[in-house]
Amino acid sequence: MELSLQSVIGARALGEFEAPAPVARGLPAAAYTSEAFFALENERIFPASWVFAGFVHELARPGDAVPVTVAGRPLLLLRDAAGGIRAFHNVCRHRCLKLVDRPGNLGRAIRCPYHAWTYGLDGGLRAAPYFGGREPRAVPAGFDRAQHGLVPVRSAAWHDWVFVNLDGAAPPFEEFAAPLRKRLEGLDLSRMQHLATIDFGEVAANWKLLMENFIEPYHVQFVHSRTTDQPLADHYTVNEAGCLGCAVDVSREARKPDVLSEDSRFLTLFPNFVLGLYLPDQVGVHLDTPLAPGRTLQRRAIYSLDPAPDPNGRAKRLAVLWREVHREDHAICERLQQGRASDVAAGGGILSPVWEDSVRTFQNLVIERLR
Ligand code: FES
Ligand SMILES: [Fe+2]
Repeated sequence: MELSLQSVIGARALGEFEAPAPVARGLPAAAYTSEAFFALENERIFPASWVFAGFVHELARPGDAVPVTVAGRPLLLLRDAAGGIRAFHNVCRHRCLKLVDRPGNLGRAIRCPYHAWTYGLDGGLRAAPYFGGREPRAVPAGFDRAQHGLVPVRSAAWHDWVFVNLDGAAPPFEEFAAPLRKRLEGLDLSRMQHLATIDFGEVAANWKLLMENFIEPYHVQFVHSRTTDQPLADHYTVNEAGCLGCAVDVSREARKPDVLSEDSRFLTLFPNFVLGLYLPDQVGVHLDTPLAPGRTLQRRAIYSLDPAPDPNGRAKRLAVLWREVHREDHAICERLQQGRASDVAAGGGILSPVWEDSVRTFQNLVIERLR
């Protein structure tokens, strides 16, 4: 049976979510807990979008490859012999075995561990030994190697970030990224140097809760009272469908050391690209990989725009701070997930029209893409 949005969350819950009201509701709990809803997202949202999938700096040399999961599918990102970044379905064309299962350098070819079919870094099938008989080069009559290369996936690299579009039909990448680029105008991201990456492993929360939490400023002063010093009154939301988020311009002069007190921008591209800018010279990017309705893998890369290499042991200090800030957010997102087991959460809770309008727009986008 083909899944439909209505059959997954129910016509009534959908109607209540969409009914105009001065104080809007959030998405019903099933949007965060249901396997069917997650399957629908993996059919309709992720394949049709530009999904953030990996980091260019992890593909530094020809042959470097990173297996990733996008829309529940195994993909492979790699750097080819000519220095280009490519994405493929990470599946051998013989018996559809997952080809590469850990990051590393593949040398000049990708060899399947099962029957040694071998592919070039351009994805072309170079060898299918003994496939047609007892001779190493024997192939069955009518078998055309050119038809059995790795299946490519449309990809784009922007600064340190690799995006993929599974169905090949999303608008041009430039168009997709333009609203975020516009908000970063005046900032020279080409000076960006990677300082550190934090692997958080799995967070026991739906990917949308992590996104929603990032784009609302309401919680910052409460959840991050020890790690930040950015008053709520100095915040505002960025409520533009092409680039959702929030921002803060701190009004006072005095800054506390070792907490986040800088003017900041918390910006996203739908569905899963997350960029934090901490003025004047720090950038952070989250890679969120949805694994199941209640499980999301998260990594954070930290960058500096300061030309000095790691000024004053900055990488270490920032990694300590960000580990703590994320820990605070994860604890909250996991409790948001747990709350969605309650019948009360079927109604979706409610959203502040001032501080969570960006969240509502994000949720509208989810529903729009699932129809
Ligand atoms: S499955 Fe890859 S060579 Fe057989
Ligand atoms: Fe937070």
